Amino acid sequence: MDFYQVLEKRRTIRDFSDREVSDEVLEKILGAAFKAPTNDHLRQFEFVVVRGRENIARLVSPVAENTRNFQQTGLEAAVGMDEDEHAMFVDALPKQQRMLLQSGCLVLPFFRQKDCPLCEPADQSSLNYFASAWAAVENLLLAATAEGLACAFRIPVGNESQHVKRLVGAPDGYEFTCFLAVGYAAENAHICKQKSIDIEQRIHRNLW
Ligand SMILES: Cc1cc2nc3c(=O)[nH]c(=O)nc-3n(C[C@H](O)[C@H](O)[C@H](O)COP(=O)(O)O)c2cc1C
Repeated sequence: MDFYQVLEKRRTIRDFSDREVSDEVLEKILGAAFKAPTNDHLRQFEFVVVRGRENIARLVSPVAENTRNFQQTGLEAAVGMDEDEHAMFVDALPKQQRMLLQSGCLVLPFFRQKDCPLCEPADQSSLNYFASAWAAVENLLLAATAEGLACAFRIPVGNESQHVKRLVGAPDGYEFTCFLAVGYAAENAHICKQKSIDIEQRIHRNLW
């Protein structure tokens, strides 16, 4: 696949087969994360790789209840929601916990968060570590696509971050970006319709 084919092919896939991801491929795609730009040049990323559904189940145990709460209010607030967005939530919300368990390979991308606490930024640049961490995750997603893998991720909500950090024994000063399921797509994996964008309408020349 050339680079633009990879961009097209990278999609969020929440249905996985049983096929195992080898350590070799996993290492290759995690390596891609370290090629992303970083705010301080230091690339202070750490990855906790968790295999086995029982181990993963312990880490994602708060997800089902947190999602139920969100699902209720989220879909109630759906009146007037964009049709494609609504279809995505309808597919995604019931799968939040299952998708993290199903591939049997969960990656927790951690990053060093210096200075300001992540959720109390003083200004935009306080989020530089977070932004760098997400640039790294995007590299990882693209590399996974190039390797024929499928990925889905969940942003931690409520108590999920604390729960994960405690269980894996993350040192102080580290945060994690998301729960990232890595695997091979199930045969009948659902892929949501991607919102089509008229790019010409989004490019403003000299003035908005
Ligand atoms: C910042 C961010 C947060 C997201 N949070 C979640 C999430 O918590 N759960 C989930 O299933 N997908 C999540 N997604 C994936 C989006 O639903 C998905 O990227 C979007 O619907 C576009 O589909 P595509 O990735 O197939 O192009 C998130 C994506 C981003 C960029």
